[in-house]
Amino acid sequence: MREELERIKQQALEAMQAAQDIAALDAVRVRVLGKKGELTAVLKQMGKLSAEERPVMGQLANTVRAELEAELETRKTELEANALEARLAAEAVDVTIPGKEISMGHQHPMNKVLQEVKEIFIGMGYTIVDGPEVEEAAYNFTRLNIEEGHPSRDRSDTFYFDDDDSVLLRTQTSPIQIRVMENQQPPIRILAPGRVFRKDEADATHSPMFHQIEGLVVDEGITMGDLKGALETLIKRLYGEDAVVRFRPHHFPFTEPSCEVDMQCFKCHGTGEVAGQVCSTCHGEGWIELLGAGMVHPKVLEGCGIDSKKYSGFAFGIGLERMAMGRLRFNDLRLIFDNDIRFLSQF
Ligand code: DAH
Repeated sequence: MREELERIKQQALEAMQAAQDIAALDAVRVRVLGKKGELTAVLKQMGKLSAEERPVMGQLANTVRAELEAELETRKTELEANALEARLAAEAVDVTIPGKEISMGHQHPMNKVLQEVKEIFIGMGYTIVDGPEVEEAAYNFTRLNIEEGHPSRDRSDTFYFDDDDSVLLRTQTSPIQIRVMENQQPPIRILAPGRVFRKDEADATHSPMFHQIEGLVVDEGITMGDLKGALETLIKRLYGEDAVVRFRPHHFPFTEPSCEVDMQCFKCHGTGEVAGQVCSTCHGEGWIELLGAGMVHPKVLEGCGIDSKKYSGFAFGIGLERMAMGRLRFNDLRLIFDNDIRFLSQF
């Protein structure tokens, strides 16, 4: 029995050293010291011993138990310390590793150009105003001197809401002129950017939704010279002093006289051709139409309760996308709406 106890002790001590974690150590404890353990099994055989041997073996068994328990404790403390160390090592933060780069977005290129335009006009004393996208035909057409039957009122061009053609998605920002003038007497000096809608197929220079920037100035003694001055200031600030622009006579029902302002095509430099092909940016025109403008028609002023003998005014409507194309030098309007990050990140 002495050898048996000695063997159990040796094996248990080896197993405890070999245990690599608390669970393995506990398994050793159960196997040796547990109720059905090896040491308990030996003790159960005490009855077979002689009266002299019994206390000696009993004592020996207790000593073995005490030794094993002490060793269990020691090994447990050791394993716990190891585990903690391993965990701390695994969780350590290496403050010298470079951080993850977070790439910042930026304003949409069209918004950048809009911001530039706004700032130029704010610098000339204009106030920024807003108007509804769902508009009455009266404001979008009639009060701008665009009579019933005018081609721009046609259902093939305009998104109407009802069969009576009275409510629509505005086709231009010009109705904001009426909304301002019916609420405010001169002097008026406003800029009104916004979305407009037309039944156009999308191509390199058209989209069913696009943006305009409306401008309106009404005061005593306003002339066409003021109009040219304001627009030339805009174009030179935006495109540089050497920008080539032309004022071309045109007709708009709500201005008299009226004009359109074009800039020379930045792609073909006015030739209308790129490598023997018709220039896709200006459709071979050599010029890109930027805006319509003119002197506010007296009928329009009077319709808003403004005395056309005392006051005169000019107005203009800029195509923002086209202006952005010229400013940022890209040649397909659809790029603005595609939101392809490879395009947007270039600006
Ligand atoms: N609203 C016109 C259009 O959509 C542009 C325009 C022309 C606006 C002349 C004006 C203007 O204010 O005076 O084509």
